[in-house]
Amino acid sequence: MKTVFSGLKPSGDMTIGNYLGAMKNWPYQQGLARTIFFVPNAHAITVRQDPTELKKRTYDLVAWLITVGLDPKKSIILVQSKVPAHAELCWILDNYVTMGELSRMTEYKDKSQKLGPEGQLVGLFNYPVLMAADILLYDANEVPVGEDQRQHLELARTIAERFNRLYGNTFVLPKATIPKTGARIMGLDDPTKKMSKSDHPDSFIMLAETADSIRKKIKRAVTDSDNRIIYDKKGKPAVSNLIEIYAGFSDETISVIEKRFVGKGYGEFKAELAELVVEKLSQLQAEFYKIRDNEAMLDKVIDSGSAKAAEIANEKLREVKEKIGLL
Ligand code: TYM
Repeated sequence: MKTVFSGLKPSGDMTIGNYLGAMKNWPYQQGLARTIFFVPNAHAITVRQDPTELKKRTYDLVAWLITVGLDPKKSIILVQSKVPAHAELCWILDNYVTMGELSRMTEYKDKSQKLGPEGQLVGLFNYPVLMAADILLYDANEVPVGEDQRQHLELARTIAERFNRLYGNTFVLPKATIPKTGARIMGLDDPTKKMSKSDHPDSFIMLAETADSIRKKIKRAVTDSDNRIIYDKKGKPAVSNLIEIYAGFSDETISVIEKRFVGKGYGEFKAELAELVVEKLSQLQAEFYKIRDNEAMLDKVIDSGSAKAAEIANEKLREVKEKIGLL
């Protein structure tokens, strides 16, 4: 049985980009594969976090994982800091990757440029190695992520190949599985930039956004020059992004959506899109608040999921240590 593994960092509020590009696709393989999902909270501290907020967001994320359809009876749900094998394998893998390889990671280049010298922490630089450790510990075959994680996945594969070549078959080579639509949802205010929780609030819609605010943000979203609802990523990036959001929430194909809006303008399209997003998010939010309210249940999910994960991870770590001669 193959293993599907992925996670979301608790470094800010969840956006519809996280949902459409990643989370929404996670429950599909439940029951068909070994499915493991996690909250990489140790990745979040590569930029300064408020400790109370970080804890709260970790619980929020576990609650969102259940909200979108992950069933703790069918999937293992864990929190990274509860399984120390992640950090330990990261240190080992640090010795199978070069400074040059890490320097080429575009996420590091972008973030470190934005943050300046003060923010250029060793943890931020090393981030992709911890991510490789996360994935390789569980023999993950598939890692469902958005487009922005592709390069990190390629590095995880390179590290795994290198290790296997030196010590014999140890790690499964993971593959990124990236959805056809929604893999890169762009900012509502600027369709050349990925939608991100760290940008201006007008650029993103949170999963917890209120109905009024969703309507306002979609109304204000930038559009392209002519008034036609056509998907053309290069020529009409803003409308194409809105069409992808529509497709993600309606589960319809892009061509069905284009046909529906032939002869209609941006105003009508945006109004319908806003109502669709409001409807879907309000259903998810109602479910989320019920689950989030029960912190004792969330603690149980985290503890039992992390304990199950630790068994798998410790076994892999033992094998790795044995191969390289660590007692
Ligand atoms: P994170 O927390 O930034 O994002 C979680 C997932 O959401 C996707 N995503 C998007 N998809 C489409 N459009 C967007 N605008 C958008 N923004 C984010 C991301 O591609 C991701 O799949 N490094 C990871 C966390 C991580 C991880 C792992 C993931 C740590 N270890 C091991 C998989 C396996 C990250 O920062 O995701």
